[in-house]
Amino acid sequence: MGIMRSSININTKIVGVIGHPIKHTLSPLMHNHAFKELDLDYVYLPFDISSTGLHDSLKGMVALGIRGFNVTLPHKERIMEYMDELSDSAKIVGAVNTVVSDNGKLIGYNTDVTGIIKTLDEFKAEIKGATVSVLGAGGAARSAIYTLINHFNVKKINIINRTVEKAESLKDYFSSKMLFTKIKTYELFPPDVTEVLAKSKLIINTSSVGMSPDEDDTPTSIPESFNKKQIVFDIIYNPEYTKFLALAKEQGALTINGLKMFVEQGARSFDLWTNEAMPTDQILELLSKKEKMENN
Ligand code: ATR
Repeated sequence: MGIMRSSININTKIVGVIGHPIKHTLSPLMHNHAFKELDLDYVYLPFDISSTGLHDSLKGMVALGIRGFNVTLPHKERIMEYMDELSDSAKIVGAVNTVVSDNGKLIGYNTDVTGIIKTLDEFKAEIKGATVSVLGAGGAARSAIYTLINHFNVKKINIINRTVEKAESLKDYFSSKMLFTKIKTYELFPPDVTEVLAKSKLIINTSSVGMSPDEDDTPTSIPESFNKKQIVFDIIYNPEYTKFLALAKEQGALTINGLKMFVEQGARSFDLWTNEAMPTDQILELLSKKEKMENN
């Protein structure tokens, strides 16, 4: 039962996001809305930090008593060396997207993993023991593969990527780090991977193909890649429905966009900073309304 806080005051705690470039992020809207809803005395700010300024920005964060940061491109990997402690998932994924400053001790987490778990958990029984395909081999793919092995106990993972060498190196990485040897790699050449996709229970697009402003692009436009027994998850949330997801839906697949993952990764960061639960249903509604308005 706090007094409604209408403004920033001497007790206001600061969190934010560091990245470069830092435009188009929905994180400030999401977190500031949630702070207001719960009457928490926090403010979330975007900080445009280039690679050369990364270390100094962390020293500044500690000096200023900032509670934490989200971390986005291009810092997610390199920031790890400046952490005093890393969560297990951040360590294995090899990327940090959330920093908590515990009285100056910096702890790195990967809340994308939580975002993926929360998004797919209702299908856990179907995903367990299944063959799944991951499109892309970047940082988001690493979070997805870690989660599929660690939480969902999948049987087999196909990594499909434009640059097949990157898929190969992920395969080697997970076989040595997690002792998971059931990974196959493929070059992203749609006619050749159609059958591989069609035989997958779950397909996750972690590549940036189809993201605004390149909404006409898609990893595949071959309808036979999809069927009605599948779950198809695109981590992109802008546009709300990528061409890829629309095609999967036309073929009867159950489709999921990236908005819930985005909100759930944010909710986990929010919880790490404040020890409070973000009102995720309300935030999901707010963000999906905003997306619709902007795309009409
Ligand atoms: P993130 O951390 O979000 O995963 P990333 O590490 O830059 O970002 O990875 C982007 C992924 O999208 C990569 O798998 C990339 O393929 P390459 O490894 O071949 O670069 C994929 N990607 C991006 N643009 C692409 C395009 N036009 N066609 C095919 N794949 C693309």
